[in-house]
Amino acid sequence: MSNEDFKPVLLARQGKPNSHKLETYKADGGYQALAKALAMKNTEVIDVVKASGLRGRGGAGFPTGLKWTFLPKDVSGPIYLCINGDESEPGTFNNRVLIEQDPHQVLEGIVISSFATRTTTAYFYLRYEYGRCYRVLKDAIDEMYANNLLGKNILGSGYDLDVHLHRGACAYICGEETGLIESLEGKRAWPRIKPPFPAIEGAFRRPTVVNNVETMACIPHILNHGAEWFMSMGVPKDPNNPRDAGSYGPKLYCISGHVNKPGLVELPMGISARDLIDKHAGGVWKGRKAKAVVPGGISMGFMSEKELDTPLDFAGPGRVGCLGLGTAAVIVIDDHTSMVDVLYNACRFFAHESCGQCTPCREGTAWSTKILERIRDGRGKLSDIDLLLEISGSMGTIPGTTICGLADGAAWPMKNAIHKFRPEFEEYIQSGRRSESPALAGSH
Ligand SMILES: Cc1cc2nc3c(=O)[nH]c(=O)nc-3n(C[C@H](O)[C@H](O)[C@H](O)COP(=O)(O)O)c2cc1C
Ligand code: SF4
Repeated sequence: MSNEDFKPVLLARQGKPNSHKLETYKADGGYQALAKALAMKNTEVIDVVKASGLRGRGGAGFPTGLKWTFLPKDVSGPIYLCINGDESEPGTFNNRVLIEQDPHQVLEGIVISSFATRTTTAYFYLRYEYGRCYRVLKDAIDEMYANNLLGKNILGSGYDLDVHLHRGACAYICGEETGLIESLEGKRAWPRIKPPFPAIEGAFRRPTVVNNVETMACIPHILNHGAEWFMSMGVPKDPNNPRDAGSYGPKLYCISGHVNKPGLVELPMGISARDLIDKHAGGVWKGRKAKAVVPGGISMGFMSEKELDTPLDFAGPGRVGCLGLGTAAVIVIDDHTSMVDVLYNACRFFAHESCGQCTPCREGTAWSTKILERIRDGRGKLSDIDLLLEISGSMGTIPGTTICGLADGAAWPMKNAIHKFRPEFEEYIQSGRRSESPALAGSH
């Protein structure tokens, strides 16, 4: 399906009057997918989701149906589904819009996914700062209980499910799946060492699936229209790469930064950053040019201007040295902006958000922030550039020195900024000038 023929799927109801109410959702065909799923075997639902090629929208792009099959088959006792609505990746707001505009679409996906995974208790972990989402979700869940869509014997099927809405603990690390589980259990959100993975030992030490809000929103549509329909959108798997699982379905792209029209757009996976900026965000603001673009949240690193034709699918950003597609939150940086300042801002964020358990992450994020502070103060040394590269090369799950991926996300903006914009760092240091943008409050 071409981008021109594409009609929004996940945002189809956005902006309709009372789009958040059960009545309007049902009038638009809502909860028909649930009725269909409940008439199937749970394993058949998993098969459809597997066949669709749906990959998780929370950042890592793990195949959703496959993740569900990792749950032990012969387990007695509870299995949990945790919905990851922590959404703290800088530049990312697609979950917020989905919840505020169409909470029942997400909740229908949750009930179907819970049924598929044999879950009878699901937890919706919601970013604390999302007050409006909280109120909208709470009302929607109440509506569901009142209409036999939650609770006992849902739609007469014999299936029972409770959904608990849990407000998050205000930290980026609460979005990491095992940090989320710890936080849900009432503890500090310190990620756990894996294995065991949550499918074997997750919330309350029980088998658990963690899935993102947008992943859940895709599920009812896959049940309604079928796996083939989902696979008709996006980028097929690369036949020459057995590890490529393809990038199927519609995707929400957040666009922010130096553009004329920031916002959220839905398109088949694989649009380029250039088309997103020019065709969907009104171009770079003030008649300027893009210098760098973040492909999917700041932790994915940067694409340079000449890399903007890269498709924003699961494989594209990695081909130009970025960490991945991440949350598909595109942040545009114009050619009047200093990459030293941009990198300082990113490092400062990760230093603030590191949970501190792993020395390379705790020290590396703080040290890189201090180095950039020194550079911005006119006291940098040329050797600082390689020092930043050395620090970034030694922290993360990829070099195998940390428990979770926050450190990889902190390392990638450093690596990309220096590899792709090194002359700018050199010129900045050699000039000895001080940054015109003030040091940010709370920096180290
Ligand atoms: C530091 C960090 C923060 C994360 N934050 C989020 C988040 O806010 N929301 C999210 O869905 N996934 C987040 N993730 C990814 C989750 O660990 C997990 O992969 C995801 O929730 C799985 O859902 P999915 O398979 O549906 O994508 C984060 C990962 C890391 C390392
Ligand atoms: S990598 Fe960083 S955030 Fe993740 S567990 Fe280690 S110290 Fe905490």
